[in-house]
Parts: sequence; C-alpha cells; structure tokens
Amino acid sequence: MSARVDMLWPRRGDDLRDEAVLAAYAPPASAPSWLRMNFVTSLDGAGTRDGRSGGLGGDADRRVFELLRRWADVVLVGAGTVRSEGYGGMRVDDDAAAWRTAHGFAAQPVLALVSARLDLDPASDVFATAPVRPIVYTVAGADPARREALAAVADVVAVGAADLDPAAVRADLVGRGLRRIHSEGGPGVFGSFLAAGVVDELCLTLAPTLEAGDAERIARSDRPAPTGMRLEGILRSADDELLLRYRRVS
Ligand SMILES: NC(=O)c1ccc[n+]([C@@H]2O[C@H](COP(=O)([O-])OP(=O)(O)OC[C@H]3O[C@@H](n4cnc5c(N)ncnc54)[C@H](OP(=O)(O)O)[C@@H]3O)[C@@H](O)[C@H]2O)c1
Repeated sequence: MSARVDMLWPRRGDDLRDEAVLAAYAPPASAPSWLRMNFVTSLDGAGTRDGRSGGLGGDADRRVFELLRRWADVVLVGAGTVRSEGYGGMRVDDDAAAWRTAHGFAAQPVLALVSARLDLDPASDVFATAPVRPIVYTVAGADPARREALAAVADVVAVGAADLDPAAVRADLVGRGLRRIHSEGGPGVFGSFLAAGVVDELCLTLAPTLEAGDAERIARSDRPAPTGMRLEGILRSADDELLLRYRRVS
C-alpha cells in the first residue's frame, strides 16, 4: 500500500508533499468558525469493516487523517467511536506540533467527546494520557455520579436537557477560542450535527471496495436532513482511493 496522493482537481499535482496536502485542506481563513467532518466509506456506502473504519482506509487515507488534525483547534468525537475505535490520549507527533505552533495553533489539539450516557471510563487512556484536558459534552439529565467522576479528568459541559444540542456544542467550543472544529465522527455525531445544520464541510475518502453486509452508513439521525454539498477538491491515492472535499452549499 502506498501513501502517495496526486491532486486531480481543481489543479493537477503529482505526488503531493505534506505541505501541498495541507494547503488543499486549509479551512477558509475568513470564516469565524468552521466545522469539518472526516469519514471513509466503501463504494457501496459502508462506514465500517468488522465494526471499525480502519479496515476500509489505506495508507493515504491514514496520512490525510493525521494531517487533518493539524488544522484543528479541537478534535470532536462521539463516545461510540471512542469505544469502538479504541481512542487513547490524542497527541500529534513532534513534526505536527511544530507545524501547528508555526501556524498559530496550540501545539496539541483539544479532544472533545460527545456522550449522553457518559459510559466512559475516567481512568482510560483517552483521559489519563491526554496532553490537554479533554472536554465532554453531555446532557443535563446525565447520571450525576458518572458526571462527577469524569469531571475529575475533563471539563464536563451540559448542552441540552434530554437531547444534546449540537449548535450549543459548537457555540461553547467557539467561546473557548476553539473555532476550527474537526470531527472524526462517528455516524451518530455526523447525523445529529447535520440535522442541526452545523456541519460546514465533509472530507470523504471513497475506498475502492464493495462491502455488502449490514455495515452502517456514515451518518445517522432520527429525521432526514437533506444537505446540499459542493465539491471543492479531489485527491487520488496510488491505491485508487478518492479523497474528496465537499463544502455545504449555504
Ligand atoms: N467510516 C468512518 O469514517 C467512521 C468514522 C467514525 C466512526 N466510525 C464507526 O462508527 C461506529 C460507531 O458509530 P456510532 O454512531 O456509535 O458513533 P458515534 O457518533 O461516535 O457515537 C455515538 C454515541 O455518541 C454519543 N452521541 C453522538 N451524538 C450524540 C448526540 N447528538 N446526542 C447525544 N449523544 C450523542 C452517544 O454516546 P453515549 O452512548 O455515551 O450516550 C452515542 O451513543 C464504529 O463502528 C466506528 O468504527 C466510522
């Protein structure tokens, strides 16, 4: 497998270096805040293989996945993804930290989690080895004992009474100065944030595989949320992945 990526559109560019890949994914400088989702899907719309997204993406997908964290003040992830993908303390490597500080970011992005049930272990690596204190967004009705236990290791913020309010999550992050918001999913977060109208962009890796089976799609919500998107860029990996960048039509 190769991590090589070429740009197909809007310009042609062969074997892009990291700086060129990063430039292709720069958030709009003029936007007061920006919320981007990053997903991988098979050609037939599966969001997982064997219950995880990692089986779908190749080396180029992983390369871009890591590079996209450089553009983030905060990485936002749902509790389901933390549990199934085995998130540990999120720390970018030294090169990424140096790039970030040179570009006006904190050396490490903040990790923000979304959970109504707070079924998260405060002793787990996601908290214990985090370089920056994480944030947990939940609902006012969350279990008080779980909330108290997590408050020892994270900022726990209630956004909504029974249902979590994605717009309030975004507003709270922006209020903390974390205005470039990068979400790594999963489908529950994507669908609910889409239905709330707070998603600006989707970075989508189309993996050259057909999966069939019953794998879930990349977005799920309790009501349909048709959202027009405009293509902004196409990269192609040496392994035939397409790395697509779409922006919401406003
Ligand atoms: N294809 C991809 O690129 C990709 C990316 C990420 C994940 N995935 C896959 O997606 C699967 C996980 O799916 P998922 O839907 O469980 O992921 P998820 O969106 O990360 O997690 C869902 C959970 O997060 C919390 N949550 C999310 N949105 C919420 C909201 N609006 N209000 C309240 N709570 C909210 C809830 O946690 P509580 O249950 O704690 O209340 C909910 O059960 C895994 O198999 C993972 O591998 C695929």
